[in-house]
Amino acid sequence: MKFFIDSADVAAIRELNDLGMVDGVTTNPSLILKSGRDIVEVTKEICDMVSGPVSAEVVATEAKEMIREGLKLARIAKNIAIKVPLTWDGLTACKAFASEGHKVNVTLCFSAAQAILAAKAGASFISPFIGRLDDIHLDGTDLIADIRTIYDNYGYRTEILAASIRSVNHVIECAKIGADVVTAPPAVIKAMASHPLTDRGLDQFLADWARTGQKIV
Ligand code: E4P
Repeated sequence: MKFFIDSADVAAIRELNDLGMVDGVTTNPSLILKSGRDIVEVTKEICDMVSGPVSAEVVATEAKEMIREGLKLARIAKNIAIKVPLTWDGLTACKAFASEGHKVNVTLCFSAAQAILAAKAGASFISPFIGRLDDIHLDGTDLIADIRTIYDNYGYRTEILAASIRSVNHVIECAKIGADVVTAPPAVIKAMASHPLTDRGLDQFLADWARTGQKIV
């Protein structure tokens, strides 16, 4: 399973990238706002650090303007994946970008029907938002499973990029279902290392070691 980092925080991405945990990065307008940085500058910095795809999102809502913005974003670096929303205009722009060999991440996917359209429009990635479905009391992981089944039925090559990941359990469920990628905030990736029995076991080992009076020199 590939890990993308859902963040525009350069320091947080670097920490995980140095450990080999980063296969790509996803950003969106809200994450750019949170970073307080200029979109072109921060995206370039991330692209220079990470070798995998870095998603940068258009903000136009009409296909022609989306295409103009997307081509501008694609000029930032070779590893840009142009991110477009799952609207009819977004699919139109997706098809245009894919035909020119650009990677496209189709975002804000909330149904299997939308995911089929994205695959047919040539998307490299489809981003179903699990957490936001959970927020309205629907099971986001059911959507990932449905898309997995449908894509496998027809051999669609679009990668399932599970997004809006809020917990370690989301990551595990997506891995069990066979999502190709999860994009998660740095805090979720770091939380995957924690287990209360690890902490308890380590405390015990350290206490016993102190009682031996020894040192490793
Ligand atoms: C995906 O590409 C989005 O940037 C992101 O996963 C959205 O997550 P949120 O629902 O926690 O904002």
